[in-house]
Amino acid sequence: MHLEFDILTLFPEMVEGFLTSSMLGRGQRNGLIRAEAHQLRDWTTDKHRKTDEMPFGGGAGMVMKPEPIFAAVEELRRPESKVLYMAPDGEPLTSQLARELVQETHLIILSGHYEGVDQRVRDELVDREVSIGDYVLTNGTLAAAVVIDCVSRFVPGFLGDEKSLTEESFMSTLLGFPQYTRPADFRGMHVPEVLLSGDHAAIAKWRREQSIEKTRQLRPDILDNNEFQP
Ligand code: ADE
Repeated sequence: MHLEFDILTLFPEMVEGFLTSSMLGRGQRNGLIRAEAHQLRDWTTDKHRKTDEMPFGGGAGMVMKPEPIFAAVEELRRPESKVLYMAPDGEPLTSQLARELVQETHLIILSGHYEGVDQRVRDELVDREVSIGDYVLTNGTLAAAVVIDCVSRFVPGFLGDEKSLTEESFMSTLLGFPQYTRPADFRGMHVPEVLLSGDHAAIAKWRREQSIEKTRQLRPDILDNNEFQP
């Protein structure tokens, strides 16, 4: 087993299908990864299985209580485990962060809900706080699933075809180029001639130009930060 993931969430059903479908499902069946979502409420001890309370100091919304989270993490963690907390105010998820996380052996991913978790959880249990973008989701469960998907792609053998990752060093610095498949003429819309030419150097040049142009239009900030200047 290369890497194990345990999500702690109030909504495990949101991602159960996701974790067992497609590539993640295959990665689990092949024994490369393990990914499970756990119901945080299972670690409550009161009759109402309460996981949230009103914030001290007042204010709108509820805050997730520390007790069930501490109990869950203490049960699941091993000496080498790392705990991530999904939050819109965390560090941004990037390929670089995913490449760091794939070096770990066990990630416990805490999904926030309501106005977030008690700060003592963040201070005492959490190793890294991760955001998947500058927008706010209703809870962090989908964000945790995104982290698992993106990190798993870097597990050796996960993609089957290692070439997909080699091409990605190029793809992660520039946006992607247009892809076409058969038929060459679909309803009068033609595949660019160069792709049918068999001229590999010309195809590579065309793809690179297309990537640079698309990046210039949609993400000029990426061009400013690397060597792909005109
Ligand atoms: N929880 C709510 N919004 C989020 C975001 N953008 N990233 C990670 N976790 C979140």
